[in-house]
Amino acid sequence: DQTRQIAKTLAEFRLTTEQLLEVKKRMRIEIQNGLSKSTQEAATVKMLPTFVRRTPDGSENGDFLALDLGGTNFRVLMVKIRSGKKRSVEMHNKIYAIPLEVMQGTGEELFDHIVHCISDFLDYMGMKNARLPLGFTFSFPCRQTSLDAGILVTWTKGFKATDCEGEDVVGLLREAIKRREEFDLDVVAIVNDTVGTMMTCAYEEPTCEVGLIAGTGSNACYMEEMRNIEMVEGDEGRMCVNMEWGAFGDNGCLDDFRTEYDNTVDELSLNPGKQRYEKMCSGMYLGEIVRNILIDMTKKGFLFRGQISETLKTRGIFETKFLSQIESDRLALLQVRSILQHLGLDSTCDDSIIVKEVCGTVSRRAAQLCGAGMAAVVDKIRENRGLEHLNITVGVDGTLYKLHPHFSRIMHQTVCELAPQCTVNFLLSEDGSGKGAALITAVGCRIREELN
Ligand code: BG6
Ligand code: GLC
Repeated sequence: DQTRQIAKTLAEFRLTTEQLLEVKKRMRIEIQNGLSKSTQEAATVKMLPTFVRRTPDGSENGDFLALDLGGTNFRVLMVKIRSGKKRSVEMHNKIYAIPLEVMQGTGEELFDHIVHCISDFLDYMGMKNARLPLGFTFSFPCRQTSLDAGILVTWTKGFKATDCEGEDVVGLLREAIKRREEFDLDVVAIVNDTVGTMMTCAYEEPTCEVGLIAGTGSNACYMEEMRNIEMVEGDEGRMCVNMEWGAFGDNGCLDDFRTEYDNTVDELSLNPGKQRYEKMCSGMYLGEIVRNILIDMTKKGFLFRGQISETLKTRGIFETKFLSQIESDRLALLQVRSILQHLGLDSTCDDSIIVKEVCGTVSRRAAQLCGAGMAAVVDKIRENRGLEHLNITVGVDGTLYKLHPHFSRIMHQTVCELAPQCTVNFLLSEDGSGKGAALITAVGCRIREELN
């Protein structure tokens, strides 16, 4: 009976191909809602224009500073790009911590901290006197009116600093630089991490016209036809659109796939009701889903001798790296038990088998849902171009994609199955989005020079 009940709980997480096709179909509808003027305002998948009109062509040149905020690490980078036959990119970067009280303090504190880190980096590089052009990878939804203006729509993931939503983030950064009165910078571009990732990969591989992040959060961008982006003037050419697909489902359209555990994770999060698809697909939340299932199973007496420990009550214990370890096929059960032990969970051999199965079921669903979303995107691009068959490359980054032993494979398989008219090649972004931000900044600087 116990085995049956466990199987019943996990069955809710197993999606059939028909269900995944339905997810793909609904994503397609939400994409359309986000692009059309008449439905755009209420749309959940916002399809934000980025003002990036082309991928790199190798003519980018110069020295740039880049910031990379919103993933696992906050980085400041110096990126030297050289054009021509021997084109090259050289990078120096430093990782800085953002304490929780800064992530969730006031906006002024957050931006002062960022500028403090830039100051340290410029000292480290010995470059305080040059007024360098800067590209700001800011991995949150921003409504852009140009390359260098972006109003924060809403914080997502673990951030919640006050007085930033509704404000132009570039303005907030410029003000913080002024407050410090120590150096000057030329903020040229604000860039989503998906866009930075797409650009980084497109620099090496010109068929890359989609960016995907499967990390702390989940999101994608792609080159959309200008004629389909009703919120931006002009019908010629293409523009990269930051989909903000994490918010897919916020209008209830995924409710029939969500379980009671998804609801609990959502309710206990910093942003209840928001980013519902992201909460089923991304690293920040998968461990939380697992934890809530384990609590429930323990309450029913199936696990941990029915004892709910303090650890199990602690939010965020199952980080992506632990899930990845637990699910690794190279680990013997004894090692799984020792990981659980390390987390403060006293498990029997049977417990460890169940925990591993729970993790596997939750991460498989995440990979499949992410794949269903991507299938909708590549099929849209194919139809845009009136093609029977599309070959395309997706640039990918994120800890879940990189560290998890099965996520990437299952996601690839799902795309293949749900979008049979597309051949999709996934390219791992090696240097993060900072490099892409620098490439965009290079183009921004050149356009500005041409205008003057
Ligand atoms: C990195 C980017 O490569 O990937 C970050 O440079 C981005 O900006 C990140 O946010 C996503 O991964 P994670 O797992 O750190 O959220
Ligand atoms: C969240 C952010 C989005 C970002 C994604 C991946 O969904 O809203 O902007 O791209 O996380 O980091």
